Amino acid sequence: MSRTVYVNGAYLPEEEATVSIFDRGFLMADGVYEVTSVLGGKLIDFAGHAVRLARSLNELDMQAPCTNDELLAIHRELVTRNDLIDGMIYLQVTRGNPGDRDFAFPDPATTKPTLVLFTQSKPGMADSPLAQTGIKVISIEDIRWGRRDIKTVQLLYPSMGKMMAKKAGVDDAWLVEDGHVTEGTSNNAYIVKNGRIITRQLSSDILHGITRAAVLRFATEAQMEVEERPFTIAEAQEADEAFITSASAFVMPVVEIDGAVLGNGTPGPVAKRLREIYLEESRKTAI
Ligand code: PDD
Repeated sequence: MSRTVYVNGAYLPEEEATVSIFDRGFLMADGVYEVTSVLGGKLIDFAGHAVRLARSLNELDMQAPCTNDELLAIHRELVTRNDLIDGMIYLQVTRGNPGDRDFAFPDPATTKPTLVLFTQSKPGMADSPLAQTGIKVISIEDIRWGRRDIKTVQLLYPSMGKMMAKKAGVDDAWLVEDGHVTEGTSNNAYIVKNGRIITRQLSSDILHGITRAAVLRFATEAQMEVEERPFTIAEAQEADEAFITSASAFVMPVVEIDGAVLGNGTPGPVAKRLREIYLEESRKTAI
């Protein structure tokens, strides 16, 4: 069955939705995006994603395509029109179609941003079997640009990282810069040692994960110790546990890093507990 998607004010069957070949998202990767998960037909942490979208747009001098209330209404309309129970809503804003190709930004008075949203159904995503077994990762060099705090659609290297992981027979890659882990290809990275949760501090080196913010808040509320600092792959391989967070994976245990098995090779208690708390609390505040 065809999805209904949203493009610049219109709800359309996906086959009829189009964007110009002169769109700067296509020509220059000049765009930003957000991914909001949906559980039980409700949006998880919409407010957090809206705040980060506004920040990404602002950092790139890009106009907001509409108000947050309008964005919320579009998200909800897509959930309804697609009967979405569990899954994700992807939102992309680009600097629009100036009608030609030019490196300079177009005048925002005459070139409006392009706004596209679409759904991806993932029934039962909160009960992913991977959460029971945990995932395996390899490390690769982080050669992305220096503004990873802006959620841009420049996803070529993260895609290459996923392919390197696939080729190595594992699930994902952790990116390493100057000897320290920055984050996963599409998630934030954590280790646990003696009950203490360690994750890299916020800066322009990593995306400021919305799930990260919630998980660290829940961990602190549950009296768990949190330390925000960089860590190496060697330290991670010696850790008791590891995990990743993202809007689509929630909290996902990591059981192997570059071939080194963590603990007994099964998801650890801290990751399992945080996943439970995150899902329970997020469902309560979903809208
Ligand atoms: N990725 N770091 C990177 C590089 C990411 O791409 C993501 C999200 C995260 C986690 O952010 P959040 O908790 O706000 O989802 C961290 C999304 C899910 C994606 O690209 O599909």
